[in-house]
Amino acid sequence: MSSIKDNPALQAPKREKPLFAPGVADGQAIVIFVLGGPGAGKGTQCANLVRDYGFRHLSAGDLLREEQDRPGSEFGDMIKTYIKEGQIVPMEVTIQLLENAMKDTIDTKGVRKFLIDGFPRKMDQALAFEEKVVPSKFTLFFDCPEETMRERLLNRGKTSGRADDNEESIKKRFRTFVDTSMPVVDMFEKEGRCVKVDARKGPEEVYEQVRSGFESKGVMPEK
Ligand code: C5P
Ligand code: MG
Repeated sequence: MSSIKDNPALQAPKREKPLFAPGVADGQAIVIFVLGGPGAGKGTQCANLVRDYGFRHLSAGDLLREEQDRPGSEFGDMIKTYIKEGQIVPMEVTIQLLENAMKDTIDTKGVRKFLIDGFPRKMDQALAFEEKVVPSKFTLFFDCPEETMRERLLNRGKTSGRADDNEESIKKRFRTFVDTSMPVVDMFEKEGRCVKVDARKGPEEVYEQVRSGFESKGVMPEK
């Protein structure tokens, strides 16, 4: 891949400050990052938060899979390879997809509160997003041992149809998570911007922890 950064489709306009300020008024957006190893339960808990807190859920992985399958996408083949290998897709692509999805949600639904799931998975993504799009409010982190995640992923693999829910890809995804994504979580934790939950339990118990974590940060349910 010659140079993704030279691709005109990804030439993000140079910005003096982030696209959005934190908040829910015009020109603002609220972003909570949702991180955790593959199979930690991010998607499941995001669905609960959408229902009760009025967030819009944007999964970086889902957006990448959608782009991969979009007829005519010039990034399709590249994304496919990265996903199968459990590697992190170059951030220019992922950040652009997220930014587009945020703008679209604001324009069509007027919703300005986002859970960004499976992102940032690498330090450069974290820094670039907070500098160019919007600083996050905090990060929700699902702490889960590999044995538990592995079991869940193999189970999900029976029906998910995902090219990476198999033994070999799972191993690579775990490696990437530990080496590349954990440093991001550690950074947010050091900055006091991380809510950590024990994700070994069942969905209801985990959700209780999520709720109290959100309340501790002043985020209250809408219903
Ligand atoms: O989050 P999910 O498990 O759906 O992500 C699937 C794959 O998508 C990852 O293993 C990775 O290859 C890619 N991805 C990425 N950058 C992100 C999120 C996902 O490259 N921020
Ligand atoms: Mg997911």
